[in-house]
Amino acid sequence: MTAAEQIRTEVNQLRDDINTHNHRYYVLDDPQITDQAYDRLLRRLQQLEADHSELQSVDSPTQRVGAAPATHFDTVEHEMPMLSLDNAFEDDEMLAFEKRLKDRLDNQDVGLSYTAEPKLDGLAVSLLYEQGILTRAATRGDGNRGENITANARTLSSIPLRLQGANFPPRFEVRGEVYIMHADFEALNEQQRKSDAKVFANPRNAAAGSLRLLDSRITASRPLTFCCYGLGIVEDYKLPISHFERMQLIQSFGFPISPYIECLSGIEACIGYYQSILANRDNLAFEIDGVVFKLDDVEQQTMAGFVSRAPRWAIAYKFPAQEVMTKLLDVDFQVGRTGALTPVARLEPVSVGGVMVSNATLHNMDEIQRKDIRIGDVVIVRRAGDVIPEVVSAVVDQRKENLVLPQMPEHCPICGSEVSRLEGQAAYRCSGGLICAAQCKEAIKHFASRKAMDIDGLGDKLVEQMVDQGMIDSIGDLYHLEILQLAGLERMAEKSASNLKSALDKSKSTTLARFIYALGIREVGETTAESLANHFAAIEAIQEADIESLQTVDDVGPVVAENVRLFFQQEKNIDIVTRLIEQGIHWPDIEKAESIQDQPLSGKTYVITGTLEGLSRDQAAAMLKAKGAKVSSSVSAKTTAVIAGEKPGSKVTKAESLGVTVLDQQAFQLLLE
Ligand code: IVH
Repeated sequence: MTAAEQIRTEVNQLRDDINTHNHRYYVLDDPQITDQAYDRLLRRLQQLEADHSELQSVDSPTQRVGAAPATHFDTVEHEMPMLSLDNAFEDDEMLAFEKRLKDRLDNQDVGLSYTAEPKLDGLAVSLLYEQGILTRAATRGDGNRGENITANARTLSSIPLRLQGANFPPRFEVRGEVYIMHADFEALNEQQRKSDAKVFANPRNAAAGSLRLLDSRITASRPLTFCCYGLGIVEDYKLPISHFERMQLIQSFGFPISPYIECLSGIEACIGYYQSILANRDNLAFEIDGVVFKLDDVEQQTMAGFVSRAPRWAIAYKFPAQEVMTKLLDVDFQVGRTGALTPVARLEPVSVGGVMVSNATLHNMDEIQRKDIRIGDVVIVRRAGDVIPEVVSAVVDQRKENLVLPQMPEHCPICGSEVSRLEGQAAYRCSGGLICAAQCKEAIKHFASRKAMDIDGLGDKLVEQMVDQGMIDSIGDLYHLEILQLAGLERMAEKSASNLKSALDKSKSTTLARFIYALGIREVGETTAESLANHFAAIEAIQEADIESLQTVDDVGPVVAENVRLFFQQEKNIDIVTRLIEQGIHWPDIEKAESIQDQPLSGKTYVITGTLEGLSRDQAAAMLKAKGAKVSSSVSAKTTAVIAGEKPGSKVTKAESLGVTVLDQQAFQLLLE
């Protein structure tokens, strides 16, 4: 092989490998290599392409970064129109849909099958593949003509640039939805807020706005996802008759399809499917506005035909709206753990997505100004997933005269201390610190919460009573509480008081990461707390760390470093930490992380299941992580070993079926030694 041939072979191999890893990561959600190893492959490919411009190619995975901005979008004529869907809002309309189909197909007795999947709330796109390569992407537009958004579509990691295998049609089109996951949407808006850029009203708008940007480099930075739901034109290929089987086929080419897709027989089963998806709506990672049902037999689809712009063989059974209008009665201010005052909208109660809502967040004063929301306005309220309902905007057309903007109070509504705003910060804060009952309550609730000290039975109501009755005024007092004192609280019998006392005792055995997180230092979340714990290995070392050494920790920037330092500069905080440790809070030792690579268990992944003696699963995980291992919640062929305590359950069965080693507690202790 000549040197040039060798390089070409390496480039092809790298592209294949990177495509496979992309597919595993974005489509199968089952990565095989670490992010660092992936980056190494990508960087090597980028280097080779930069050094050998003749090897550059539009279907290379390096091309996902976006291209130079365009001046406009070309128009794309759809070879097969992109239809829309008829809607149903009630079971009766679903029954009528099936009846119409049966009449038309002369099928009264045999029964019909349907493919069912959630209706994603994003925007429709068409992707054209020629000889397995993405050659054109277009928006739906008016159904006949859309916009050519190929440069933008190329930046989505869930859209294959080149298909897997060889058995695909030589020229064909897949259709699907581009959307944004809830968590990505929240993060995107947070980032927009921080950089004073436009905040998106909902994930759909954010997806549509991001996909239709003339500068695809910005699209590349937006967290867009693609899911396929059908085919357009297909040339020279024999497809299965069943739509459901077609979807499996599309999946085998490397496209993501809905994980919730099912083939159902009869409309009653469809109604059942609708109900179960509706009941789970808030647990889904993305927004859906209903469920789509399609007649499964494509020959029957052809017989049913379509009317104007929608097929007769498909229907969208819509969910109750997650954005509704109501009246803003007033704005109150809630004081949080760090003293920040958040404006809260008091609303005329209204059902949003099937749940009654009478309060919603307005985020902060800047946002109220920007959105120009006034007391007495008709407003649009939205709730989605498990996020807090929020006021999206005011309906200005319906505004009455003389309405005023809400004003930030000068004094804290809880403790009366002065309210101030730091230069350059969005939040106004109560200056009361721990004398403010609201801040004190929130700090204790956070300390007791599941991901912090996990104090079972210490709920919000109890904390409020304890603070209101003057039993405690900081987390430092919690472990001093006696059963008799606890039993004196409302709705607290001696039995539950003694349970709470045991829960308090139990929580003393924890991990350093949890303890740091529980202290509630501003902007120190679980991940940062874990990085701090692994880096410094001791609470004293964190207390003494200066800004520079704090900033050498993974995901600690100047702001977090400053927050940590400010927290430990305060005498009363040091005092609380000392008291807590004196009262018996403890954690397993951590070996200080020198360099991840040099650690004994680096590169290994463990799964912990069942009950370990004298050790919580979290503690066991912290011990493994401290030695450089990764801890995962699901078993795959890549798992190094499963650590099984008492009553381990299905993870052990899965490990055995995959040939993954299972270690008992004794073997686990040996591993650590
Ligand atoms: S099928 C002829 N399936 O809903 C079939 N559409 O209201 C046309 N949508 O433009 C589309 N999820 O953007 C189909 N699983 C799904 C869908 C879905 C979301 C969108 C799509 C379409 C609109 C029609």
